[in-house]
Amino acid sequence: MQDNSIIILQSHQFLKHPANVDSINALRDVLHFHEHRYYVLDEPLISDFEYDTLFNQLKEIEKNNPELITPDSPTQRVGIGLSEDFNEVKHLVPMLSLENSYDANDLKDWDRKVKEFIEADEVEYVVEPKFDGGGISIIFENNIFTRGATRGDGSVGEEITNNLKQLRSIPLSADFLKNKIRKIEIRGEVIIPNEKFKKINQQRVENNLPPFANPRNAATGGLRMKDPKEVAQRGMEAFLYHVSFCEDKNGNDALRKIITHHSQAIETIDKLGIRSSFSVLSVCKNIDEVIAKCNEWEAKRNSLDYEIDGMVVKVNSLILQEKCGYTAHHPRWAIAYKFAAKQATSTLLNIEYQVGRTGAITPVAKIEPVPLAGVTISSISLFNEDVIREKDLMIGDKVLIERSGDVIPYIVKSLADARNCSEQKIIFPAQCPSCNSTLTKPNEEAVWRCVNVNCPAQSVERIIHFVSKDAMDVKGLGEANIRKFFEMGIISDIPSIFKIDFEKISTLDGFGEKSINNLKAALEACKQQSLNKLIFGLGIRFVGEGTAKNLERTIHHLFDLKEKSVEELLQIGDVGNKVAASIFEYFHSDENLKMLNELQQIGVNMEAKIEGDSSTKKFSGLTFLFTGTLPTLSRSKAEEIAEANGGAVLGTVSKKLNYLIVGADAGSKLEKAQKISSIKIIDEAEFLKLVND
Ligand code: IVH
Repeated sequence: MQDNSIIILQSHQFLKHPANVDSINALRDVLHFHEHRYYVLDEPLISDFEYDTLFNQLKEIEKNNPELITPDSPTQRVGIGLSEDFNEVKHLVPMLSLENSYDANDLKDWDRKVKEFIEADEVEYVVEPKFDGGGISIIFENNIFTRGATRGDGSVGEEITNNLKQLRSIPLSADFLKNKIRKIEIRGEVIIPNEKFKKINQQRVENNLPPFANPRNAATGGLRMKDPKEVAQRGMEAFLYHVSFCEDKNGNDALRKIITHHSQAIETIDKLGIRSSFSVLSVCKNIDEVIAKCNEWEAKRNSLDYEIDGMVVKVNSLILQEKCGYTAHHPRWAIAYKFAAKQATSTLLNIEYQVGRTGAITPVAKIEPVPLAGVTISSISLFNEDVIREKDLMIGDKVLIERSGDVIPYIVKSLADARNCSEQKIIFPAQCPSCNSTLTKPNEEAVWRCVNVNCPAQSVERIIHFVSKDAMDVKGLGEANIRKFFEMGIISDIPSIFKIDFEKISTLDGFGEKSINNLKAALEACKQQSLNKLIFGLGIRFVGEGTAKNLERTIHHLFDLKEKSVEELLQIGDVGNKVAASIFEYFHSDENLKMLNELQQIGVNMEAKIEGDSSTKKFSGLTFLFTGTLPTLSRSKAEEIAEANGGAVLGTVSKKLNYLIVGADAGSKLEKAQKISSIKIIDEAEFLKLVND
């Protein structure tokens, strides 16, 4: 392959002036290069739309000059990039990709072709989201989930059965049409919801791991994790959207006979408890209805809680699908309608450094404003210094940026080949941009920190976190107002929000009598907020909402935490060494204790009362962990029952665990628990007996 810079230059030339017969080899090289960047390195240098434009040029030239088609042409291949770590398995039916369309005209052209194939005036279509995650195929034999695989190269995938068994959206068994079906292969996509994705990245940054660029990467990476237990923690979900193979009890093809329509196939699997596209698909009478649906979804795309990168339109009747048939690469009966490009290029103008509530310094890239997927992007978080180095960023660089759904945009990489020597190295500051104290970076951490507890920037962030929705939930005190009040000296720390000079703020724009009264009421109401919300709101490092709840369960009053030794803290639910040390440190800081005393005097609730007094509850002081598939209860329902009865739910097996409740296909948690004699291993029925006795 040629030098990168020549290939990049050629890509842009072909985008401006389409290739011709003489340049067909150069165009193939360009496409090979971009496929490698996308599929193997996961570092694309051009947008999907630009890639498709180049690919279509090649297709067009080859169509007019079939003698020039070579066996290794990108048009002759379905996909690439297999890992060597998992067993390879052949799909029962090749997993083809879809042809792309970008506007109403493309869809109308496709509709015309479909009608020609099936010789009809109208065709019924199904429109559903194009989920942006990792493609999978699953097989059920005699109603049992027997094999799961990644898409791989389309004909051979990687066997990831154990990993897929961790996904709640796929049941381990399902009765297909009252035992009429012997074997069925279903296709779908594994995604990570945006909220979960943000939390995964926050945690990765806290744990000094590089953040994932987007939910798709987190999902495809998650599918191929070595340890299925970790898969369970990644919060992946599956949407199944295609039945590709279905055989009845006598070994006859059941598609088009027992199952006649795509919508019926999806409804059938949905009713069996397999998460599918059923709830989001629409049956459309004609292509105009299809176009309207695509527009409707494009408008609401950013408000969904998971990523979609377009819509997929399918002929509904399976008999008509068969009539349309397939090309070597994709079905003729389906087409992807791709939403506006999510990638763009811009220029890195500057780096700003933000100080978080725990003193972490986050570099933020200021870029030349660029419109992308419905919004204008001008700043992008870079998480930490390592990200700047890994992406090889310099001020003045051309950068490739991507924005997926409502997920914060990110810099894919700098286009180093486009440099002209005027770019400047990024020098991470040695002093806090807010209070000027010297920054520190403890060993093994990726993050630089300001350790001055009186740093003004940290104080503001602490207040913002304290009043936030998941913490004390003070309505009417948004981030912008907190910053304004802080700058004006109206507030200075957490207790000061309860002493706001309302006379002073009544002179500000947007603060009429009504909003002031609302704010007064919200501040008064938040004094009665539950203790776990207060603990979470204090922003103690590593104490998330779950830990805050576990802490509340073990105390009567917030100040009980002052008395706990590190060893005692380690006995609590999910508290490990790092968390225990952080809680201990927090409650042994004079500054923090002074602030907590002030909050107590103000009347902020510090009494523990998770659902009444947890110490009088049946499971008070007991810990539970659920593993495997329970016969009747979902995992979340079972955990809810344990918690409602005063129990604490743990994430891992340790000596702190009292009960392990085991369902079907329990794995290593069971093995580990069997080695610890104090853990009682019970099934769902015994657990329910404990609850009801
Ligand atoms: S149908 C035979 N439906 O998009 C065709 N695919 O770019 C079966 N995808 O390879 C595919 N959402 O991995 C279909 N609702 C959906 C989809 C979907 C996402 C993926 C799939 C496919 C790729 C094509």
